[in-house]
Amino acid sequence: MDIEQAKHTLDSGGLVAIPTETVYGLAANATDADAVTRIFSVKNRPFFDPLILHTPSLDMMETYSQSGLPPLAMQLAERFMPGPLTFVLPKADSVPDIVTSGMESVAMRIPNHPMTLDLLRSLDYPLAAPSANPFGYVSPTSAAHVRQQLGGAIDGIIDGGPCAVGLESTIVSFLEMQPLVLRLGGTPLEAIEDCLHMKLKRQTSSSQPKAPGQLSSHYSPGRVVIPHPHGCDWQAIDWNLTTDDAISWLPQSNASQSFTQSGDDREGAQSLFHLLRSVDNGKTGPVHVELAPDKGLGKAINDRIKRSAHQA
Ligand code: TXA
Ligand code: MG
Repeated sequence: MDIEQAKHTLDSGGLVAIPTETVYGLAANATDADAVTRIFSVKNRPFFDPLILHTPSLDMMETYSQSGLPPLAMQLAERFMPGPLTFVLPKADSVPDIVTSGMESVAMRIPNHPMTLDLLRSLDYPLAAPSANPFGYVSPTSAAHVRQQLGGAIDGIIDGGPCAVGLESTIVSFLEMQPLVLRLGGTPLEAIEDCLHMKLKRQTSSSQPKAPGQLSSHYSPGRVVIPHPHGCDWQAIDWNLTTDDAISWLPQSNASQSFTQSGDDREGAQSLFHLLRSVDNGKTGPVHVELAPDKGLGKAINDRIKRSAHQA
């Protein structure tokens, strides 16, 4: 659907899938608790897993936080927003409890996609939007991915093409004195640390209440995923591979698919979810997946591969 139809649908409490630079989101009016509740039921998402608010501006972010952006958040916002970065801040009373799972904090970001920015600017409320996939499955990086799984259950999809980044936003919490990284994502940790001239603490454990959505089992393509260290010797291992049982980092003769042609981490991020989805093809055997080099976006890519491999 186009932006005007999407606005109309959202204004009347509907659900619209929106393109962002990271992954497609499933959006509703964040101030409409009934609409937000539908997001949880369509995704089959547990209510303890809070949603991210999407806004077109820092001004609107300040409106929905209790006391605005602290100086370090402002410094990051100037450098990286709009972009794949989410802040967790104390929430304003106007954010419904259903959005934040009853917590006193709210996650917010400004997505960097022209169609979604146009849409957000036309609305007088923020959009609550998780990734537009059934809970626990691989995130969607194209309108077709959304249509395949949620098409019948939602009110529309804005097709904004394939996602430029391909990994969800990096989440940084400002609830305490020191910023805390809750999720690795599309803004590399090194870039954030460079900008702030400090090392950040990371908290990515699934058992911590501060990041309730960071469940260790996630991103599952419906088959057992076996991760292999970056640089593993593909030729030395005979897995009786067929064309869709293995994804390497660089092209290999016995793995038909590779995340990259050249080893570039941005290329790897763009192809990650598409390739993880492609192995969900009715076969039941394990899928062998080579990890990325552990730097830049590779850290977030490896986080996703390891979660996709986790057996609940
Ligand atoms: O790139 C993205 O962030 C995408 C696009 C659509 O914007 N969205 C996304 O949403 O990845 P979702 O719902 O799949 O992941 C949101 C994560 C969850 O792990 C959730 O637990 C965490 O954000 N989160 C949300 N609110 C939080 C809060 N107040 N405190 C801590 N973590 C929070
Ligand atoms: Mg998600």
